[in-house]
Amino acid sequence: MFKNVFKNKKVLITGDTGFKGSWLAIWLKNLGAEVYGYSLPPKNQKDNFVVTALETKINHLDGDVRDFGKLVDYFNVVQPDFAFHLAAQPLVIDSYENPKYTFETNIIGTVNFFESVRKCNSVKVAINITSDKCYQNNEWVWGYRENDAMGGKDPYSASKGASELITQAYLYSFFSKDNTANIASARAGNVIGGGDWADYRIVPDFFRALEKRESLKLRYPESTRPWQHVLEPLSGYLTLAMKLFLEGKKYSGGWNFGPIGTTNQSVRTLVEKMIEYSGIGKYEAPEINDKFFEASLLNLDISKAMHLLNWKPVLDFLETVKFTVDGYLLNNVTDIYNARISQINSYCKLAKNKNIEWATH
Ligand SMILES: NC(=O)c1ccc[n+]([C@@H]2O[C@H](COP(=O)([O-])OP(=O)(O)OC[C@H]3O[C@@H](n4cnc5c(N)ncnc54)[C@H](O)[C@@H]3O)[C@@H](O)[C@H]2O)c1
Repeated sequence: MFKNVFKNKKVLITGDTGFKGSWLAIWLKNLGAEVYGYSLPPKNQKDNFVVTALETKINHLDGDVRDFGKLVDYFNVVQPDFAFHLAAQPLVIDSYENPKYTFETNIIGTVNFFESVRKCNSVKVAINITSDKCYQNNEWVWGYRENDAMGGKDPYSASKGASELITQAYLYSFFSKDNTANIASARAGNVIGGGDWADYRIVPDFFRALEKRESLKLRYPESTRPWQHVLEPLSGYLTLAMKLFLEGKKYSGGWNFGPIGTTNQSVRTLVEKMIEYSGIGKYEAPEINDKFFEASLLNLDISKAMHLLNWKPVLDFLETVKFTVDGYLLNNVTDIYNARISQINSYCKLAKNKNIEWATH
């Protein structure tokens, strides 16, 4: 898989204690990579990083991405071949509470990441993970394309738009010559899957309510979101890294990794399908009249990744629900790390059956 490019390679991941970063670390380790992480410590005992005992399986250093000296030293010690930047303040609501921290982490953190890459000659590929919220949101029905304008009305979205512009500036100013690292950015959104316990997200909220035997209160039941299981954007990041490694700068720049149209479903449908599949849980949807206000139509056009990377999503909506619920309901599982590996293997098998290029060699 992935033409074996990660086997025996050193991969540095910022944000490895987080939801997506921990899954990426597990997958890369399973592909034979030597994984190094740099991030703040995990927030709670249920985090994927903790329950999979990832600290005992990869090399991890507690550190802040705002601390340039520490980050650049870590790059120099590790001498990675690949670097993925996922450390960020990822929540819109928190960005209203603490805009300065959000801007510092997401903007200066990006600068520190690319400066570290620039000062470390071993790096061949570096990918900055941003968000679908990096685009100027025109509330239109069409998917955003990679060459649409950056924007952001809230601090989080603006920080992600800025992180993209920084990537572009580093690309044109410092990483365009042949002997420099191949760099890119990746945009995805509404990622769900086992091990995410972030606040203000519908799936963690559902499982928190379940634990407390409470009924989940839906705030915006009719809001439609392009749900994606976490392995979908990750397969996109790995495909992009593989192409950058093997074929170089023609794959530099921004890439969308969104779902296919059929996984664009309402919050209500997602919760109903989770209840149906798991056979547990309940919800209430109090009447509210400001649905339009939260409508925030936000879809990604994934034509570029489909045509140029031969990447595409693997799971349909019901498979996405199934993978997500299975990732949370691990009551009788003692080795959660291995449960994650077996889910990755099932995902790869489905990808192979669907003849998706990265899974076939
Ligand atoms: N989960 C989603 O639905 C989603 C959607 C779009 C984009 N993203 C982006 O993907 C990336 C990962 O998101 P996630 O869902 O895994 O978030 P998460 O909160 O689970 O993980 C964030 C990671 O960043 C680290 N971090 C935060 N501030 C830091 C700092 N100042 N210094 C060092 N490390 C710091 C945390 O320790 C953690 O490891 C983020 O860039 C996020 O914006 C996520």
